[in-house]
Amino acid sequence: MTTEMKHSKSEEQSALNHTDSGSAEHGILMYKPLESDKAKPMGQGLKYFIETWGCQMNEEDSEKLAGMLKGMGYEPTPFKHQADCIIFNTCCVRENAELKVYGNLGMLKKLKEKNPEMIIAVCGCMMQQQGVAEHILKRYPYVDIVFGTHNAWKFPEYLFQAKRDKVQVREILSDEQRIVEGVPVERESGLSAYVTIMYGCDNFCSYCIVPYVRGREKSRTPQAILQEIRELIAQGYVEFTLLGQNVNSYGKGLEEPVSFAQLLRMVNDLPGVRRIRFMTSHPKDIDLEVIRAMKESEHITEQIHLPVQSGSSRILNIMNRKYDRETYLDLIRTVRRELPGVAISTDIIVGFPGETEEDFAETLSLCEEVGYDLAFTFIYSNRNNTPADRMPDQISDEVKHERFNRLVEVVNRKAMERNEALVGQIYEVLVEGPSKTNETVFSGRTRTGKLVNFPGDANLVGQFIPVRITRANSFNLYGEAVEHSS
Ligand code: SAH
Ligand code: SF4
Ligand code: F3S
Repeated sequence: MTTEMKHSKSEEQSALNHTDSGSAEHGILMYKPLESDKAKPMGQGLKYFIETWGCQMNEEDSEKLAGMLKGMGYEPTPFKHQADCIIFNTCCVRENAELKVYGNLGMLKKLKEKNPEMIIAVCGCMMQQQGVAEHILKRYPYVDIVFGTHNAWKFPEYLFQAKRDKVQVREILSDEQRIVEGVPVERESGLSAYVTIMYGCDNFCSYCIVPYVRGREKSRTPQAILQEIRELIAQGYVEFTLLGQNVNSYGKGLEEPVSFAQLLRMVNDLPGVRRIRFMTSHPKDIDLEVIRAMKESEHITEQIHLPVQSGSSRILNIMNRKYDRETYLDLIRTVRRELPGVAISTDIIVGFPGETEEDFAETLSLCEEVGYDLAFTFIYSNRNNTPADRMPDQISDEVKHERFNRLVEVVNRKAMERNEALVGQIYEVLVEGPSKTNETVFSGRTRTGKLVNFPGDANLVGQFIPVRITRANSFNLYGEAVEHSS
């Protein structure tokens, strides 16, 4: 059951109730555009701007918001001051993500004064935290719409209501059992697409807010996923990244359960698919079938993201990760043995409550031992109402920063070593476009996901070409295209 909240700006105080019910219905709901838009699109001649913080889940939601806006006749603009509709899609995984949102919201006040017809909407994970939506509507009264992660597909309704009734519109659901299919998606690249295969997370790592703001795990059916990929292939897409907070538990709640390994093989068999990536693999759930599927399927790339979070078994236990240092290292050995040339990336948190110098030294030694191609490193950030937030022995900022710097030195040095070992070799690169800084330099990615810059021309965009690596740093490769005959 859902409750729709609307209230005029003058009634803000009295109407600030949190909508805390979720939908108890299960199954699939098909998205339908607004009837009124069919007659006269409400965005004709108008422009939108979307700012997205956070992970690929939010990126994907923003692509859907853009798809719905396009369906209503809106066109994108790269400039906030030209926009008639601004959406902030927010993240709250760490405190600094939230601070950025508040800073940016403050700056919209002037724009709204200049263009009072402008609609400002704020959505995403931050809105799912108790009290945040209310705070935003009150503190930033020029915000017109707030909604959460479970009902982004209803954005056209909210927009219609805000414009017609000149009210602040708010709807936040605590969870949603249904999966909404058929929402139009506006993707930026024409080659690579994110495809969400499951929503939510059931793992409740003790530091993490994601399960609270994204709800319980729900898998899309293989039919819906394969259909979306077929449509993308027809539009020219060749590379697909299957997304979920824990893709290895894909398929569990489906009427006909399908494993992630089976799904990978189905996607691999679709004619026109050239590269398949996926993230994130929780180390506790990845099984040998997935590694076998990677090994035996031509289009599944040799790349795997295996967030370790800490090298200390004691800390991993308090983090509720459900694996220890040794099982993780065993997994890494298996992956390297079965998938030669594989690129392994990870996420690491420093300064988790109670982390001692010895625990941290274990994280450093694990990084030395694994030699990640890429590591995303984070300073532990307290998240309200998570178990870790209430743990004793919180680490001081000074110690966290000092450990963080030591960790970054190790991960960058190891990544550099990994990349330098590729110099002189030839790799297949999918050319994406000119580099950001130089129009004669083009960028593309190897099967392992490494960014390669090389001199080239616009004709190469969209092609798979062999590139010899000539130089490397910790984050990028440089190379030259090798003559080829396609
Ligand atoms: N589902 C994915 C990642 C989700 S969030 C996974 O399990 O790997 C991305 C990363 O943010 C996490 O892997 C973790 O390293 C980091 N992170 C999450 N909560 C955090 C917190 N409270 N403080 C610091 N980093 C955090
Ligand atoms: Fe957060 Fe853990 Fe779920 Fe990843 S698996 S989203 S870190 S709770
Ligand atoms: Fe952030 Fe939400 Fe992703 S909290 S990391 S945008 S799931």
